[in-house]
Amino acid sequence: MALLQSFLVCFVVVVAASLIPVSAQLTANFYDNVCPQALPTIRNVVQKAIKNEPRMGASLLRLHFHDCFVNGCDGSILLDDTSNFTGEKTGLPNLNSVRGFDIVDDIREAVDNACKTSVVSCADILAIAARDSVAILGGPFYQVLLGRRDARTASLSDANTNLPPPNFNLSQLLSIFQSHGLDLQDLIALSGGHTIGLARCTTFRDRIYNETNIDTQFAASKRQNCPVTGGDGNTEPLDSMTTRFDNQYFKDLLKFKGLLHSDQELFKGDGSASDQLVQKYSNDAVAFGSDFRASMIKMGNMKPLNGNNGEIRMNCRKIN
Ligand code: HEM
Ligand SMILES: *[C@@H]1O[C@H](CO)[C@@H](O)[C@H](O)[C@H]1NC(C)=O
Ligand SMILES: *[C@@H]1O[C@H](CO)[C@@H](O)[C@H](O)[C@H]1NC(C)=O
Ligand SMILES: *[C@@H]1O[C@H](CO)[C@@H](O)[C@H](O)[C@H]1NC(C)=O
Repeated sequence: MALLQSFLVCFVVVVAASLIPVSAQLTANFYDNVCPQALPTIRNVVQKAIKNEPRMGASLLRLHFHDCFVNGCDGSILLDDTSNFTGEKTGLPNLNSVRGFDIVDDIREAVDNACKTSVVSCADILAIAARDSVAILGGPFYQVLLGRRDARTASLSDANTNLPPPNFNLSQLLSIFQSHGLDLQDLIALSGGHTIGLARCTTFRDRIYNETNIDTQFAASKRQNCPVTGGDGNTEPLDSMTTRFDNQYFKDLLKFKGLLHSDQELFKGDGSASDQLVQKYSNDAVAFGSDFRASMIKMGNMKPLNGNNGEIRMNCRKIN
């Protein structure tokens, strides 16, 4: 009996370890000994930035997403273009769109002062800043796993192909998430990130003028600030309670008030598995919170550089 039990335990451990080969190396307490002040220092800077501009929480969350989806969470999105280096910032999903780089610089400076040296990677700074932003805006808190190292490379072409554009349909969205080891539940839960932040007119113009699965009054009101031509950079909130991390995004989808085409793709009113998840999260904020937390950890564990791979970048904008 005891033998059978220990066999089963071994079996479970081996199976579990083989399912999570990379994430096993990230740990929640990675900086506890080398720099115990690291996490509170990051949180302070994030808190101040959000107090100054609530949208910054959304921008920091999105930076982590756009970092992770392009060859893993390795800080590659932070690298500036130079005459002999092409980064990811001019990729179509990033150009004139991702923001928050100055706050990342502020965090880098504050955390280096607190730690006396550069021990915290830029990739981890993004993971922690995203986690703290969500919690500060009223969302779930989770233990963020740490120990990622920073890439010495970036890929503009991968930034263009590995990030989902807003005109994607459900099967395209699902397949791009699956290519990152994420499933339908991850897609729906993580899209709930659109409970905070803004989008530019150019990303939803086609939807508010041409689509039929959209609330008529909602479309009319969005057209006020997003003309057929011009005003490309005008912004609108991604959900109707944009400064709070809650489940309003899903409630809006049920009313066909998704701002992006890709948002409304998740709920079509056809009773599909995707519809059912949207319905569930709209009814149950706690279920959304715990699934979002689990999916963020899963996304944050994608292909981290660790051990002696990569580096701890001293300036997040350039390789050492
Ligand atoms: C499912 C596929 C997704 C698509 C097609 C998509 C697309 C977009 C687009 C087009 C914008 C507006 C960009 C602009 O106006 O320049 C946006 C904003 C945003 N996205 Fe997503 N997104 C997706 C998934 C996610 C995920 C997984 C997260 C995070 C967990 C996320 C977080 C955000 C946030 C917070 C903003 C607002 C940023 C700000 O205000 O600065 N998105 N997204
Ligand atoms: C780019 O040029 C600078 C200055 O000449 C040099 O220090 C740096 O190593 C080069 N970077 C790469 C990636 O080749
Ligand atoms: C989604 O888009 C792809 C590419 O345009 C297309 O082949 C596919 O039929 C579309 N799927 C649905 C369900 O509309
Ligand atoms: C609406 O669709 C038509 C036909 O595809 C296209 O030519 C037009 O540019 C679209 N309008 C907007 C505002 O996107």
